[in-house]
Amino acid sequence: MDLEKLLSDRLAPAFAAVAGGPVDPLVRRSPRADFQSDAALALARRLGRPPRDIAAAVLAHAVLDDVGVSAEVSGPGFLNLTVTDRALADLVAGLAGDPRLGVPPTATPQTVVVDYSAPNVAKEMHVGHLRSTVIGDAAVRLLEWLGHRVVRVNHLGDWGTPFGMLIEHLIDLGEAEAAQNLSMGDLDTFYRAARVAFDADEAFQERSRLRVVALQGGDERTRRLWRLLVTQSERYFLTVYDLLDVTLSAADFRGESAYNDLLAGVVDDLDRLGLLLPSGGAECVFPPGFTGRDGEPLPLIVRKSDGGYGYPATDLAALRQRVGELGATRLLYVVGLPQRQHFAMVFAVAEAAGWLCPPARAEHLGFGSILGADGRMLRSRAGESVKLVGLLEEAVARATDLARSRNPDLDAGTAEEIGRAVGIGAIKYADLSVDRTKDYVLDWERMLALDGNTAPYLQYAYARIRSVLRRAGTAVRPDAPIVVAQPAERALAVELLGFAAVVGELEQSLEFHQLAGYLHRLATVFNAFYERCPVLRATDELRESRLLLAELTARTLRQGLRLLGIRTVERM
Ligand code: ARG
Repeated sequence: MDLEKLLSDRLAPAFAAVAGGPVDPLVRRSPRADFQSDAALALARRLGRPPRDIAAAVLAHAVLDDVGVSAEVSGPGFLNLTVTDRALADLVAGLAGDPRLGVPPTATPQTVVVDYSAPNVAKEMHVGHLRSTVIGDAAVRLLEWLGHRVVRVNHLGDWGTPFGMLIEHLIDLGEAEAAQNLSMGDLDTFYRAARVAFDADEAFQERSRLRVVALQGGDERTRRLWRLLVTQSERYFLTVYDLLDVTLSAADFRGESAYNDLLAGVVDDLDRLGLLLPSGGAECVFPPGFTGRDGEPLPLIVRKSDGGYGYPATDLAALRQRVGELGATRLLYVVGLPQRQHFAMVFAVAEAAGWLCPPARAEHLGFGSILGADGRMLRSRAGESVKLVGLLEEAVARATDLARSRNPDLDAGTAEEIGRAVGIGAIKYADLSVDRTKDYVLDWERMLALDGNTAPYLQYAYARIRSVLRRAGTAVRPDAPIVVAQPAERALAVELLGFAAVVGELEQSLEFHQLAGYLHRLATVFNAFYERCPVLRATDELRESRLLLAELTARTLRQGLRLLGIRTVERM
């Protein structure tokens, strides 16, 4: 049972009785007691009465002692809430017996489509795709754990005018050579060479233009060459996903080209609904509320002046398919913030067309940039965007070196396993532990540090508990009586009980930094507990209880990290 919610449920009727209407009791953790409620202050202002009187009146109405909670008015009119040791111990015992750690599966499972990763064929994945992949993976893991039906969609950029140029370059290079370059992950070299040829040579430009026409017209040889580009790129992306340890698989690719046949219908229907307007030779929708710098209405271009369909039309078709065919009621788009307006307009048009209506809703989970140490967009020394695999390999190498230097006796296999878990974990955690909408600086020292709000800190806390449990020599009894008496034990118990509330919040907010912050607090509180309350040196009941608290902490850390896509290791 989630303590904050329990207290809130108990105080709400008391507040309602005093206020004559519903009031959120605003229960939160307190530095003075276990919890506090601050709602009497605002209510007093509203009723024009002294806040302490209001707080006292609420107390007079509140039924709390049957759940082992005592309350008192404090300061200007706070309610301080203290849970008895016995009640805490009972609640923790309930958690210990629950494989889901107090988090119930959802009572209302939804079909959720998560659109994430979405790199572009024949182009290197960059750090923006890293963020999308990491955040999307966490969303998928969380929502699946909560019992939703999740459809992963990797909206690969596999269509559009650049493919004329790319296919011509492939032909010039020879198929075998091109396939070799691409599957090796030499995507940028390939793309750049195509670009250079295009920019330098008018004949090449003309060939490219004709090639786009052939591609769109379904010419067989052209399609085959295009497939080659797509397949080789996909193969490469899958190696990145493997290294990154995310749940995306080959079955989740559903590129832009998959919607080709639906595009004409989308535009026709918009026309039939009277939403289509010509503008500068193109066909556009002007969703209300979107204006440019000078206040002029902004168009969403669904059909370009050359007759082709672009990115917005594809997203409209995809959205319609996700709601209509997949039956999704929640659509998530994990894409960088620069595309905020694009998605806002796509959603607005889809609503206007009646393709997106309650209960279905769409959310753009936008995110900021990853910056280099100089505080600017991450670039390599040559000024190019940083290659993602390089970044991941560096993380693993650094973490492996660190593991070896701390523990020279590690065998090669174990050092590698730790290096992978910690290196990749550090990258993911650095991303997920800050507010998604903010930029952050990629700082190797900081993200691999064993102290601070980092993956290694949490992984180390986990490994340390596991080592304690191994050294205990006896199995932890899941039904051992819990003793909560010392302040450090109380603090740990209260923190453990907070997991369900944090995960519950996440279901809607998808603000993973809240979970990260929670896990960091939990590990810190555990470390204080471990310092002050002997575990292995305790005896009898106390030893059993503390071992169980330690084991419960380890399980919570592991489950929390797992939701973030981060592995734990048994020793490090
Ligand atoms: N391929 C795009 C890019 O690299 C991202 C696609 C995002 N998803 C979407 N449905 N538009 O920027």
